[in-house]
Amino acid sequence: MVEETNLSVQNLIYPMFVEDGKAIKTEIKSLPNNFRFSIDQLLPEMESCVNLGIDKFVLFPAIAEGLKNTIASHSYSTDNFYLDAIHKVKNEFPNISLMSDVAMDPYSSDGHDGLVQNGVILNDQTLPILGKMAVAQAQAGIDIVGPSDMMDGRIGFIRDELDMAGFSDTSIMSYTAKYASSFYGPFRDALDSQPKSGDKKSYQMNPSNKNEALIEAELDYHEGADIMMVKPATCYLDIIHLLKENFDIPITAYNVSGECAMIYAAAERGWLNYNDAMSEMLLSIRRAGADGILTYFAKDFAKLNKR
Ligand code: PBG
Repeated sequence: MVEETNLSVQNLIYPMFVEDGKAIKTEIKSLPNNFRFSIDQLLPEMESCVNLGIDKFVLFPAIAEGLKNTIASHSYSTDNFYLDAIHKVKNEFPNISLMSDVAMDPYSSDGHDGLVQNGVILNDQTLPILGKMAVAQAQAGIDIVGPSDMMDGRIGFIRDELDMAGFSDTSIMSYTAKYASSFYGPFRDALDSQPKSGDKKSYQMNPSNKNEALIEAELDYHEGADIMMVKPATCYLDIIHLLKENFDIPITAYNVSGECAMIYAAAERGWLNYNDAMSEMLLSIRRAGADGILTYFAKDFAKLNKR
């Protein structure tokens, strides 16, 4: 009765990694208990999550090096296994909310989220690629596309492309305030998606900036975002709070790989109690104002709170 914040499995979104092939379940070294699955392994794993009450998932593709190129064309190619995986997952679990990743980096031989020319990111030329990727995912049956690339203007561009292709019901969860953070390391290990040169600081946000998050949010909101995300979560609780206070659409936060890895590693050494620490971390993100939390802890939290 006196608790001000409620956190339940309903608030959680589970990020999972899928790769092409069969019978693959490879643990991600820096993210214990998280795996890269081939689709035949992913489906039963998702079923066990659904049985625990998880009904929101984000799917990330790990792409073979040979399929990457400078224009990320495999991302919207009809033989992309990721699109097939989206189709199969939605077929098997029509009632879940399935979210995607819209960004060039898993498919880019440069390892960047935008087109690279002479070491410079070409913002505007990247937009049509993101648009094609989003439409291809919508055709495959995705419920919510998730542009994680941080190019300016992409929410409006993607909204128009989706609408013109007849997908006006496909929602957009924008990675609105995504910081150039050092906490993405284990994720980049999982997908082998480190930038080949340079860093992502020309398009991801400066960790010292707060007003800029409001500007980014203002743009995304007016361009048609349905949900806005802050990423990472724990070092950016003030930003979550700021967006929640200022906008009337759902706010999500991405409890990123490095944040989870810190707790896994400390718990492994016996320095922290895993269940207590991860529950407190998630609760604090919720208290800051996140309606939804993308977290690798989703399954463990669901197990812990199973009634
Ligand atoms: C890139 C992307 C990243 C994550 C999700 N989408 C990493 C990056 O910007 O390099 C990170 C998620 C995590 O660390 O858990 N499109």
